[in-house]
This record gives sequence, structure tokens and C-alpha cells, in this order.
Amino acid sequence: MNTARPWLDSASSIETRCAGLLAVMTPAEKIGQLLQFPFSCSAGLTTDERTRVATGRLGSAILAESAWAGGGTAIPLQADALNALQRIAVEESRLGIPLLFGRDVIHGHATVMPIPLAQAATFDPDLIETGAACVAREARAQGVHWSFAPMIDLCRDPRWGRIIEGYGEDPVLIARCGEAVVRGFQGDSPAAPDRMLACAKHFCGYGGSEGGRDYDATEWTDNTLRNMVLPPFSALVKAGVASVMTSFNDLGGIPMSAHRTLIDGWLKREQGFRGLVVSDWGAITDLLESGVAADRLHAAELGFNAGIDMEMIADLYEDAIPALIAADRVDVARLDDAVSRVLRTKFRAGLFEQPYIDPELAPRVLRRSDHLETARRLAEQSMVLLTNRDSLLPLDATTRAGQRIAVIGPFAEARKPHLGAWCLDGRAADAKTIVDELRRLAPALDLRTADNTLTDDMLAVAGIADLVIVCVGESSIRTGEAHSISQLRLPPGQEELIDSLGALGKPLVVVQCSGRPLPSPAAQRHAGAWLLAWHGGSESGEAIARVLLGLASPGGRLPMTMPRTTGQIPIYYNHKRPGKLRQSPHYRAYQDSHDTPLFAFGHGLGYSSFSFSKTTAVMRRGLPDPEIEVSVSVTNTGLRAESTVAQCYVRDLVAETSRPVRELKAFSRVMLAPGESKPVKFTLRAEELGYHGSDGTFRVDAGEFCVVIGADSNAPLETSFLLA
Ligand code: BGC
Repeated sequence: MNTARPWLDSASSIETRCAGLLAVMTPAEKIGQLLQFPFSCSAGLTTDERTRVATGRLGSAILAESAWAGGGTAIPLQADALNALQRIAVEESRLGIPLLFGRDVIHGHATVMPIPLAQAATFDPDLIETGAACVAREARAQGVHWSFAPMIDLCRDPRWGRIIEGYGEDPVLIARCGEAVVRGFQGDSPAAPDRMLACAKHFCGYGGSEGGRDYDATEWTDNTLRNMVLPPFSALVKAGVASVMTSFNDLGGIPMSAHRTLIDGWLKREQGFRGLVVSDWGAITDLLESGVAADRLHAAELGFNAGIDMEMIADLYEDAIPALIAADRVDVARLDDAVSRVLRTKFRAGLFEQPYIDPELAPRVLRRSDHLETARRLAEQSMVLLTNRDSLLPLDATTRAGQRIAVIGPFAEARKPHLGAWCLDGRAADAKTIVDELRRLAPALDLRTADNTLTDDMLAVAGIADLVIVCVGESSIRTGEAHSISQLRLPPGQEELIDSLGALGKPLVVVQCSGRPLPSPAAQRHAGAWLLAWHGGSESGEAIARVLLGLASPGGRLPMTMPRTTGQIPIYYNHKRPGKLRQSPHYRAYQDSHDTPLFAFGHGLGYSSFSFSKTTAVMRRGLPDPEIEVSVSVTNTGLRAESTVAQCYVRDLVAETSRPVRELKAFSRVMLAPGESKPVKFTLRAEELGYHGSDGTFRVDAGEFCVVIGADSNAPLETSFLLA
């Protein structure tokens, strides 16, 4: 035991170590722990930053050059630069408290997984967890202790560029995916050399940015907030997420960086969250911009008293907190609480035991073959086959031999856009192209390509082909932070290209690589098969080729409703019930459009076909703590071994407040051989059948519920049960 520094004794509990360290810290050292500064491995430290690190007056570094790092080119991580920085904190500062290194490792590191929205389409938390574990292993090997993911913002607007980072429109799906990332990143202990700390963001409501405009105000009602937006955060707190990041948005008149009721009240007190709350980039200073803080002191007071422990991009806390304490506007106990949360996080991450990076590790870990394999499986399982008329897909390489197949379009030979918008450490050169992979996997096919910048070239090649595969999509820079769009359509020229190809009358396969559920009227009109392949990561080219050739089945189901037009937004499956007008035979929601979406939440075809028996519901226990067993038998009625996703939806017929027309309560991926049937069972408990009522409290009401286990959110709610 180190008697001079008892907190270094790893045999003691984290609470004891934390208390021991806190007891010897000066106010300046305490405040230092609450400050995060940006660090670039190439630029290094300024003289002022060096002094502050050496005197314990900075606690964490964000390894990024700007708040928009995701959309640009990031400076690669360097072990020697990070070790040199850490050495100053550990060896030169009085107490030797290590710095916590954070980075936006959102959906990949050197191996790039599909964007999170695509991962949600897998409806496969186990696979998502495996992917997150690969990402954590690579990032930690390069010195990242803390990732600012997962993003669990509920979102109903595909115009918003940041939907790529989240898991769609359903709170249960978001929660299951988010928990999987927490398990994958943190494992049993984030101190392990292949794990890192997770961060649930953005708390909260950011996904409701008005008009899909990033950073805009949000207007969630209390009812929607409690029943839809907050449950994923509650689930991740229970799953042990180490940190939570507050969001940029204003929520009904209160900017989230000042929202004491939600941060200190709901998150810390009601949910019992004991981890670290970090602001978003410069967001406390933004309180001046929002017009709720009169000056810098006031902004810091609002943010700190609201419950934000660490300031991302140290700007206000260092000067303001001592002044606020002196003026009795901040409590000393609040300071100790915030510092304890930072220290606890550092102990949890094992930084006191192992502050440095082993430079030998990364070369053995980055782009390991099992990581690439997981990225490919995730990409295959995330692809949503939207339509497949006359079973045009998969292409059988034997029967197609000798036929001319045109593989054209802006994505046929693209690399970088597959990587998605939030990937700092993936290299475009590592991404595979669709054409190369088709050639490699099916050398017997007569593939014809064109100059994909020239539409006349593409049309000429298509004109002499027997079958056309057109690869369209949007660049990753049309997605991500501060990159929203106002019109839900493919980038200029691509609709026209698909229409012109359609006019040739050849069998047409449309492969769409987009960061959102983007409708294409031309693909809807002309595509024999339409495959939504998202921004599928570094292995996307191979995964797409394998799916086209039938070496793998497309496994994805839409995690968000696909609208027909921009004007339908917001359109989501779990909406409240409309009033009497809907029952009128003459009523139409729009005079100029359908009111149904193009494709429903949960939709996705495979290469086989499945049938679901009638759902049964058996009451095992009644109120106040109900338990209902819901089951179905699923049969593979096709010719191919494949998995499908059994989705369980429930509707509460009469409640104290209006409730959604249906809500996803559980899901499971079932693998079936041709002709095989399997039972699928879900047990629904109180927390799944209840809701927050008009006074905000959670309740489960007596009465009738309808339920179905089916293939998508259009499955008729055919069975009912009574809660008594
Ligand atoms: C984003 C966060 C991100 C942070 C650090 C902000 O602009 O909203 O999601 O983690 O920057 O890069």
C-alpha cells in the first residue's frame, strides 16, 4: 500500500479511493478535474495548457480538432504524443491524477462498422454488441478511454443529418441497441485493455430539432418526453453507462445545458445516475447566445447547478466556480459531488493502474480479421431489401454467366462515402468498392462498367446490357452534424438517371447507399429490386456484392418509417390515434398524397418467405404486476435457410391519456431452415404495458390490450387480452 497516495491502492473500493483523493485536493485541483480541453496529436500543447496539465488544472482531453470533426479529416492518434501528454499529468502534477482521453468513436475506428441507424436495422443487439466490442478494442489500443457514443436520441425526421448516429424512431429498439453498445464498449469493466467508457447522448430531446435543422429548438410534450424520449436513457442508466452528455437544444424554453429539472432532478435523483455528466462542445457558453444567461458567471452557474459536471471545452468553470462559491451561488457540496463523479469515472476506467498506451498493441489489433468479418456481417444484416419483384435478386452467377451486366452509378466504384459521417479513424483506401467485390466473388460474370461521372456513358453501357445494377446514394457529407437537408430525395441527377435507365426496359436493380430512409420515386417506379444498403462501413462493398449474388441474405428491417414525400414528415408508426375524421369514408389526410408511408417501420424482405401463425396471449399474472406470455409460431415457407425478425406490437385500447396506435414491445431474430417452424415467445411485464400518465407518474391500467407478433408494423393486431 502506498501510504503517501492511498488512492493508488487498487484493492480498496472506488468510493474509498475517491474520498481519499478528494480529501487532499485544493479547490483549484478540484475544478481542474471538471475541465476538458481539445488536443491534437500533431499540434501538441500550448505553453498555457502545459502549465495547467502540470499543475492539475485540466482533467480531460477531447482528441479532436473541432466540434465538427466527424465531417472532416481527423488528425490520427499517436501513442507517443498521448503518452507524453499523460506523463505530464501523472509525473509532474502534485497528485498525479491521469487525464481522461475522450474521442468521438461513433461507429468504427480503423475498422468501420455501418452507421448506427443501419445497425439498428439489424434488429440484432448481440451482433451490435460484438461490433462495439471490436471498435472498443481498436480505440482503446490507440489510447481512447472514453467514446462519446451511443447516441440514443429518438428521431422522427429523416431530414436531420444526425439520424445516422442514432437508432431510429422507436424507444424500445433504441434502448436495446444502446444497451448493446454499452455492453460492447464497457464489457464487465471499462478498465480492461480492450474496453472503454461509453457516453449516452444527447440528453435530451435533440432528435426533435424543428424542421430537421441541427441545433434548432425542440418542443416535445411532457407526455412524449416521458414515454418516448426518456426511456432509452433510463435503460442505459440501468445498463451501467459511465457517462451522459447533455444536448445543445432548447426544450420548450429551457436550453438543456440549464435544465436542472431534467439533469439534476430526473437523471441524477430520480434515476439514481452516479456517473459523469458532460456538456456538449461549448454548450454552457451557448447559454449566453440562448439569452437565458446575463453573463459568463451566470451561464456557469446555470450549467453547474443544473448538474453538468464536466465542461467540454473549458471556458467558464475555471474562473466562475470559485466566484460562485464565494458568492454563495454554488454549494461546495455540489463541487465535491461533480469532482467525485469525474474521479469515479477515472478509477472505473483503470487509469490510475494503467495511464499509458502500449505502442505495440495497436498494430496487432487494428483491422483484425474478426473485426472486418463482424463489420461485413453487420453490413449484410443491416441491408433492407425494399422490393424484389419476380425475385430478381439474388443474381445466380451460373444462370447469369454469359449475360452482360452493367454495374454503374455514382456508388459503383465509391469508397469514402461508405464510411459514413462520424468516423475519424477509418481510411477511404481501406473501403472496398461494389464493382471490385462483384468481380472478385463472381469472376464468371460479364460485368460492364462505365465512366460513372457521365450519364451518357452509363446509359450506353446499360443499353447493351441484359441486366442493370445502378448504385446510387448520397455522400456522407450530406449527413451528420450540421448537415441536414430540406428535401428527402436523392442528390441532383440521380432520379433522372434511374428514370432514364427504367426507360430502357431492362431488368433494373437499384442499390441505394444513403444515411437516411430516402424515398426515390424513380426506384419505386422502375426497380425490379431495390436494396437500401445505407452507409455500410469499410466492408460495405463486399457485403453488397455478397447480398446481390445471394452469398448472404439481406437481413435489415426499417428502423424508421420511409415517407413518400418530405411533406409527410413527421410520419412514424407509433403515433397517437386520430379522431373521428378518420372514420369518415370521404376523409383524406392529404388531398395531394397518400397518408400512408412508402415503407412501414419494420419492413424488409429476404430471399426466403415466412409465415406467422395467429398470436396467442396467456395471462400469467394480473395487476398490479402483470405478466402476459405472447407467442406465435414462425415458419420458413421459402427455399432458403434464413432469419426473420419477429416483432411484437401492443395497443392499449383505453387509457387515462391517449396512447399510440401500436408500440413495439419486443423482437427477436429467428433463424429457420426451409420448411422449419419455431415457436417465438415474449413475456410482457408491467414496465412494457404501462406508461406515464397525465401527472407524469408511471401507471398500468386495467382493460383490454391488442397484440400481434408479426413481420412488420403493418401486421394486424389480431389478439387481445384483458388486464384485471
Ligand atoms: C457533438 C457531440 C460530439 C462533440 C465532440 C458536438 O458538436 O454534438 O455529439 O460528441 O461535438 O466532438
